[in-house]
Amino acid sequence: MIVILDFGSQYSELIARRIRETQVYSEVLSYRTMAEQLRQLNPVGIILSGGPSSVYDAGAPHCDPEIWNLGVPVLGVCYGMQLMVQQLGGSVERAELGEYGKANLAIDDPTDLLTNVGEGSIMWMSHGDSVARLPDGFEVLAHTSNTPCAAIAHHDRKLYGVQFHPEVVHSQGGQALIRNFVYHICECQPTWTTDAFVEESVREIRGRVGTKRVLLALSGGVDSSTLAFLLHRAIGDQLTCMFIDQGFMRKLEPERLVKLFHEQFHINVEYVNARDRFLAAVAGVDDPEEKRKRIGHEFIRVFEAESKRLGPFDYLAQGTLYPDVIESADTNVDPQTGERVAVKIKSHHNVGGLPKDLRFKLVEPLRKLFKDEVRKVGRSIGLPEEIVNRQPFPGPGLAIRILGAVDEEKLDILRDADFIVRQEINRAGMYNDFWQAFAVLLPVRSVGVMGDQRTYAYPIVLRLVSSEDGMTADWSRAPYDLLETISNRIVNEVKGVNRVVYDITSKPPGTIEWE
Ligand code: XMP
Repeated sequence: MIVILDFGSQYSELIARRIRETQVYSEVLSYRTMAEQLRQLNPVGIILSGGPSSVYDAGAPHCDPEIWNLGVPVLGVCYGMQLMVQQLGGSVERAELGEYGKANLAIDDPTDLLTNVGEGSIMWMSHGDSVARLPDGFEVLAHTSNTPCAAIAHHDRKLYGVQFHPEVVHSQGGQALIRNFVYHICECQPTWTTDAFVEESVREIRGRVGTKRVLLALSGGVDSSTLAFLLHRAIGDQLTCMFIDQGFMRKLEPERLVKLFHEQFHINVEYVNARDRFLAAVAGVDDPEEKRKRIGHEFIRVFEAESKRLGPFDYLAQGTLYPDVIESADTNVDPQTGERVAVKIKSHHNVGGLPKDLRFKLVEPLRKLFKDEVRKVGRSIGLPEEIVNRQPFPGPGLAIRILGAVDEEKLDILRDADFIVRQEINRAGMYNDFWQAFAVLLPVRSVGVMGDQRTYAYPIVLRLVSSEDGMTADWSRAPYDLLETISNRIVNEVKGVNRVVYDITSKPPGTIEWE
């Protein structure tokens, strides 16, 4: 394992992902982690991340100086390098000219860390401080026009530093540098593979669960579906998946999901038809937050009642991913047993918490994985592409794509319109070109004309966006032909709609969903 000590950089997770892309396991830990704790984890390499501070700031984060004596190779990135220099007796100063953005790397020593990185490579820089004097035994491996010490090394002690960010995609040769550190300097073997992960998880789940029963709230998304497959492989029918149909899913999706899991995968799925309850819960509710809250509460109530009816269960399987683990650190741990407990249903519903008497023990086999790794695992254990590549779908579903109050008539209209959007996008072979592509129903009516008849009906909004992670997004420049076909079909085939408009708002300032 390679440990990344996080000094507050926005890129720490990205470093971990880059390491894992070399098939070596890596974890992000706090910079406060002591050398002794690290020794017990037995890492083969340590990376010190960047960070927003200056090493001379009062209260700037410092690592345990014993780390330098562990005999483990260390790579400091940006702030991490400056800290290495400062703690080992060199000096760091505010540079006359900071360096932000791209810089060309002039390589002084093209071996070792910089093998195959390439003279003149563009590297991404973001620093105001610079190394002014190197500690004893260090030498310069590369410089840029503004930064004399852009890459440094103490070869004997295997301590390295880079002022730039090799982990960001704009850094050419960044991944080559990371591979050099991982394979040549830390001498790692590429053992972090999907197959190895599946094998180890199955063993762990069996060891933990024994002959007990496990409950899983299945949503049909890639996380809960991968989880279901993994658990089913490990414990077979000791797993019960509960699929709660709140009536806000896309047309034919609940039926399709249950059929797939039951008939094709032979996984135990309990279908709970709670459509009426959810519809009643949101009846007449205009406010988006109130709507979400009510759906969340209803979900808990149904989940509670159904888990009692189908139970008892000893464990709740939860699709916690590695980014959630980094964020929540060690909260949610039962102080008596030291086990993680479900104080929150971290499923597809943003809800407050589970009632006290429903404190299941958790199994969280995906807690080491990033989202892209979940997809790889899902694929390798047989999850079909339609689930692996499914576009994100919000927990409250179509209820937050009908603005204002939700009723059955509007749900039917939206389901049909949305179905056409999906059909046409699939037909054009463009499903994977969009982060999300869907329809929204506005609760206003406008005038139109069909045949010789005046119409007065709802508009449908098309929302087609591209995004990397849902945090920011851009509206998609979809082909006009595709938009035209979708619009024609919706207006002709969906009763109650006489107009289709295209949302050309990016996020920010808009959001992807309309509520
Ligand atoms: P916004 O609308 O905030 O959405 O730009 C960002 C991403 O999050 C999804 N989303 C949700 N997912 N429960 C979820 O599980 C929710 O309540 C929820 N609201 C928004 C949205 O579809 C997009 O991918």
